[in-house]
Amino acid sequence: MLLRTVLLLTLMAQVLMLENGLLRTPPMGWLAWERFRCNIDCDEDPNNCISEKLFMEMADRLAQDGWRDLGYVYLNIDDCWIGGRDVQGFLVPDSKRFPHGIDFLADYAHSLGLKLGIYADIGNLTCMGYPGTTLDKIEQDAQTFADWEVDMLKLDGCFSTSQERAEGYPKMAAALNATGRPIAFSCSWPAYEGGLPPRVDYELLTNTCNFWRNYDDIQDSWKSVLSILDWFVSHQNILQPVAGPGHWNDPDMLLIGNFGLSFEQAQAQMALWTILAAPLFMSNDLRTISPQNMDILQNPLMIKINQDPLGIQGRRIVKEKSDIEVYKRPLSRQATALVFFSRRTDMPYHYHSSLSRFNYSGSRLYEVQNVFTGETISGLQNNTNFTVIINPSGVVMWYLYPTKNLEISKLMSQE
Ligand code: GLA
Repeated sequence: MLLRTVLLLTLMAQVLMLENGLLRTPPMGWLAWERFRCNIDCDEDPNNCISEKLFMEMADRLAQDGWRDLGYVYLNIDDCWIGGRDVQGFLVPDSKRFPHGIDFLADYAHSLGLKLGIYADIGNLTCMGYPGTTLDKIEQDAQTFADWEVDMLKLDGCFSTSQERAEGYPKMAAALNATGRPIAFSCSWPAYEGGLPPRVDYELLTNTCNFWRNYDDIQDSWKSVLSILDWFVSHQNILQPVAGPGHWNDPDMLLIGNFGLSFEQAQAQMALWTILAAPLFMSNDLRTISPQNMDILQNPLMIKINQDPLGIQGRRIVKEKSDIEVYKRPLSRQATALVFFSRRTDMPYHYHSSLSRFNYSGSRLYEVQNVFTGETISGLQNNTNFTVIINPSGVVMWYLYPTKNLEISKLMSQE
């Protein structure tokens, strides 16, 4: 009897846990919100309004311009797609802007080797006032998304109470699992609870969501990037350990290719988000993006670092009086990534240092690849002095891997 109870409890725990096996590395793709917001005026602005045309055009770009093959496979709808509910209570898309339905868009995405993401909200209304997924609608909506063959759900938290969210997010995780379709689950839950314990239970989140928004919405400005970075860094002792394969912190979308960031700042957002093991959701116009911004987003070594299979989030490890900061992320095969970030506003800064300052120990010989320039430096030891030149609000990013263990080679040559 006891054994049966234990077995039953274990089974129940498994059903409640998010064991969908998805997102072993941070998700990558495109998300409409930051760039296209709730622009629903297709008469005035047919090329940029939230409509199936916009998503099909972005799908074409993702597939044809190299994005998909680098891993940017999610094509994600955000708010303002909903037309209402039908007489049986099923969600339906706006019939003017999505005349062929969401299942058609999912088919289109799948035919191009992409995945489709959709948006809902656990309250009475979405943040922009469209019908929400109240507690009684969770199973029905999960089934609708599965029937449409959607691959990811972003569940927002506007117009809900703390209590409704505490009930609703785990209930949606279970409902998605119960559909049998693998649907990655993105939760805005912690962002609505201040992002920190004790109000946020990160262990529970890890078992409920594949990734989650912890903090404020990103806006198209450097100020917004800095405020998000500052928040993540000041709480890194809490946030860093909770990230890992299948469960990630989400500092929000990449702005690269929009209007608010300089070239240096665009590189900085990419490098810092990569150190944070962040989801890489671009929110930009892939139809008009410049080659320079494409280069930042399509840097293969950057993507390899972001997608490292160990899935360890990095941290800020040094904050100099000179306003230079150093971030470090441990990677597989004993490699690491370093980002030298300048908060200065004067001129390119010559930063002198050595690896020992960043907790590299002992007897190794390192090779360095500069992630943006491709330049390599060989034979770096932990006490070798070096200088990096960092532009104002810019970064230098290194990928380092040990080439030789000096102690071992010394021992071997003595034999
Ligand atoms: C909230 C979310 C944003 C976006 C909007 C849509 O503000 O945090 O990411 O989804 O709602 O209305």
